[in-house]
Amino acid sequence: MTNLETIYLGLKLKNPLVAASSGLTGSTGKIKDLEEAGIGAVVLKSVFEEQINNEITSLLRKNPQNIAYPEAGDYIRNYIRDNTANKYLDLISGAKKSGGIPVIASVNCVSASEWTTFAKDFENAGADALELNIFYVPVDCHEEPGEIEQLYTEVLSKVKSEVSIPVSVKIGLYHSNITAMVYKLKVNGAEGVVMFNRFYEPDIKLNTLELIPASVYSVPAESRHTLRWVGLVSSEVPEIDIAASTGIHDGQAVIKQLLAGAQVTQLCSALYIKGAGVISSFISEITEFMKQWNFKRIEDFRGRLSYKKISDPLIYERSQFMKYFSEKDK
Ligand SMILES: Cc1cc2nc3c(=O)[nH]c(=O)nc-3n(C[C@H](O)[C@H](O)[C@H](O)COP(=O)(O)O)c2cc1C
Repeated sequence: MTNLETIYLGLKLKNPLVAASSGLTGSTGKIKDLEEAGIGAVVLKSVFEEQINNEITSLLRKNPQNIAYPEAGDYIRNYIRDNTANKYLDLISGAKKSGGIPVIASVNCVSASEWTTFAKDFENAGADALELNIFYVPVDCHEEPGEIEQLYTEVLSKVKSEVSIPVSVKIGLYHSNITAMVYKLKVNGAEGVVMFNRFYEPDIKLNTLELIPASVYSVPAESRHTLRWVGLVSSEVPEIDIAASTGIHDGQAVIKQLLAGAQVTQLCSALYIKGAGVISSFISEITEFMKQWNFKRIEDFRGRLSYKKISDPLIYERSQFMKYFSEKDK
């Protein structure tokens, strides 16, 4: 009997497939569909610190009197915060009531300020864990990398002081030392790390000379970047759980991330492009692979090809590129 169960953030999942935070996890109806299709857990669509602030600014701008009267401004700020937060609490409790899979709340944030006071409410509404999507694009050439890293750990520490549920941090790939960054997160209390968030990317339209947003969906080749860092981080920071994310478009990609040491994989673009029905084919591929290798449980092969476990760990390092060319030139 093949058993796909896995533990992520201390939660028991029936399989290592987690629906990543997105519009697909933004309503109880959609979450129910994912659960019926066999997903192991869901990360709810994020509540955005940025979104709350933008709503406040646009309402204040609509009526200049709101700016003239500080009380009106305060009222609007509190109204929006309460409304946005309450809608989110409804989503958490609705998702928990409608099914039996773990529900991970998600916050997209850039600071350790006001929103952290909501974290306890998310826990009270029934969230099994909390994922922090800490999003910061540095544009100031005088800003030191250490200051930016400190922002991540400050947000995390503040949230950890508010909640007792497990907390994971979803990071982007722009860190000068990813393993060191993950280690810092672990030391500051993170139970998990999601590698990686995929940012909204710019493109240029040559016929109009305009800057435009590129496709929001990943392509399968992007999972190889994730693979390298999952292999390295699972070896260097073994105490933290890893959710591999970006470019996971089929069951084989899931198997590879597990072999590199991930606890789970997160799916987003694949679900948008192919629909929830694709989950069963992921499960079949993983089951088939396990049968082929006579693996009874995920633990039988998780991390088997991580950085420290393989005989030629240099493949995880940049030298593979040099090797490729030197062999080709022979
Ligand atoms: C339409 C769309 C909406 C998304 N919304 C969120 C979000 O609310 N919060 C978040 O943390 N990530 C969000 N993401 C990022 C995904 O969770 C995921 O990290 C990213 O798409 C990479 O995974 P993929 O290659 O499977 O798409 C969104 C992605 C897409 C395409």
